[in-house]
Amino acid sequence: MAYSLWHCLVHYEPSTMSHQSSVNSPLSTINYPLSSLMNNLTWHLFALHLNEISFNHENLAEIKVAGKKICIARVDNKAFACAAQCPHAAVPLVGGYVNVQQQIVCPLHRYKFSLENGRNVSGEGYFLKTYPVEEREDGWYIGL
Ligand code: FES
Repeated sequence: MAYSLWHCLVHYEPSTMSHQSSVNSPLSTINYPLSSLMNNLTWHLFALHLNEISFNHENLAEIKVAGKKICIARVDNKAFACAAQCPHAAVPLVGGYVNVQQQIVCPLHRYKFSLENGRNVSGEGYFLKTYPVEEREDGWYIGL
């Protein structure tokens, strides 16, 4: 029940926003925390194609966008973005992996976080900052 309410609050269609280009992509519906919508996001092009990014064998990469370290996860043809460091003890999440539920698993203590909204799904009470990612006609953008 709580999860459903949360989901209703955070569901957001980026294609309805005036500053978005309309692209038919698997990313046309993105879920992320309401707090992201309340801030003015600045969108940054971070890659023309995902294959430009040096993903490791777990399909994770750490990149720098506007001076901020970001962990990018490639899942099928989608990309997710989150803070580069685990909120528990600041370990680089690029050393972890993404499980089949699309949760990033920290390499140190194995806490799990939803890549869609940063929820600490393994229940330790932390929150991972996530960032919206969009595939547009001219490349991949992240909202910071
Ligand atoms: S440092 Fe990530 S779970 Fe402890």
